[in-house]
Amino acid sequence: MAEAICVFTKGSIIIKPSKKSPNLLRMIVLVFAMVCGVYICSVCLNQTKFGTSSKLLNVQINQRHCHDHEVDQSQTPHVHYPKPETFSRAECACNPVRYFAILSMQRSGSGWFETLLNSHTNVSSNGEIFAVKERRNNVTSIMTTLDRVYNLDWFTSASKNQCSAAVGFKWMLNQGLMENHKEIVEYFNSRGVSVIFLFRRNLLRRMVSVLANSFDQYAKLLNGTHKSHVHSVEEADTLSRYKPVINLSSLVTELKQMEKTVLEALEYFSSTRHIILYYEDLVKNRTKLVDVQDFLRLPQMELTSRQVKIHKGPLSEHIKNWDDINKALRGTMYEKFLHYNDY
Ligand SMILES: *[C@@H]1O[C@H](CO)[C@@H](O)[C@H](O)[C@H]1NC(C)=O
Ligand SMILES: *[C@@H]1O[C@H](CO)[C@@H](O)[C@H](O)[C@H]1NC(C)=O
Ligand SMILES: *[C@@H]1O[C@H](CO)[C@@H](O)[C@H](O)[C@H]1NC(C)=O
Ligand SMILES: *[C@@H]1O[C@H](CO)[C@@H](O)[C@H](O)[C@H]1NC(C)=O
Ligand SMILES: *[C@@H]1O[C@H](CO)[C@@H](O)[C@H](O)[C@H]1NC(C)=O
Repeated sequence: MAEAICVFTKGSIIIKPSKKSPNLLRMIVLVFAMVCGVYICSVCLNQTKFGTSSKLLNVQINQRHCHDHEVDQSQTPHVHYPKPETFSRAECACNPVRYFAILSMQRSGSGWFETLLNSHTNVSSNGEIFAVKERRNNVTSIMTTLDRVYNLDWFTSASKNQCSAAVGFKWMLNQGLMENHKEIVEYFNSRGVSVIFLFRRNLLRRMVSVLANSFDQYAKLLNGTHKSHVHSVEEADTLSRYKPVINLSSLVTELKQMEKTVLEALEYFSSTRHIILYYEDLVKNRTKLVDVQDFLRLPQMELTSRQVKIHKGPLSEHIKNWDDINKALRGTMYEKFLHYNDY
């Protein structure tokens, strides 16, 4: 509004002298315009100065107020008060948010683990965001995506919006994570992102799950739809009826490769704040979920999932060429995988 007045007076300066008026009148108008201009400018300046300083004050009060909630000073880099662009956190603006990323491999229970986490009122774990290739084309698009997720501007069915106390997603090792590990570790450490490693101890079981899942991608055993996760025992039975044949000649090499990848990931991300979980431990021991909630500094809740395990019981029932596999792994460092019979 002040700008409009300025323009108006400027206009009048130009118009008036252009008429053939005497010098005195011209002077009076000029002086009047100058005084007027100085006055308006001082008003404008005052207003903007007052505006910004009061805004600054508000932000400071808000931040100090928010930080007071946090007692543990050592946690400061991991505590955030995001200001989403797409909505207001309203009464939860001062609830601190922790950032996390679940680093895992396909068929290691991360889908199930995520449903458990999302059953917590204050957790949003937004799924396999980097399964979409454009988002991991280059470091820039990875960072842009991460920024949006952690600023709570990413919307999925898992979004809890205002009262999130922990926000994250799951990231498979083969989704740009290993290639760009340097930049990602830097991002994680500077933004205070906590890492949850989730691996499977029995890599042979993982292999069965990978083969069965990829078979179902075209076989579509459940009434013509491909499902990676199921919610009923009947569906699980249907899916587990398929027994994959495991390639004997590449078996050991593949197990070695998986192990190597896991070790590399642990090494690359060792400088982050992290926790290491194993799927088998989570299945056997639900107190592990208490550890996870502690790690994310969440209020403890009973976490639940409707997902049903697909390949239950002894491994010998799930592999078509079991006898060969059994023989091939005897006496190797992978023999232990034959014996874990429950998970
Ligand atoms: C990064 O990838 C995005 C698409 O995912 C593309 O639009 C952008 O141009 C790429 N940037 C660079 C520097 O290659
Ligand atoms: C969790 O969410 C509830 C509402 O859904 C909210 O009242 C509570 O303050 C939140 N807790 C934390 C720690 O953010
Ligand atoms: C497949 O379809 C049949 C008949 O429509 C139904 O009874 C059954 O529950 C379906 N099974 C699954 C796994 O959706
Ligand atoms: C089994 O693995 C070997 C070695 O990697 C490969 O050459 C062969 O094609 C594989 N066989 C099948 C049936 O996939
Ligand atoms: C279950 O997990 C908790 C927490 O990690 C651990 O202290 C406890 O020893 C575990 N119990 C068994 C039986 O492994």
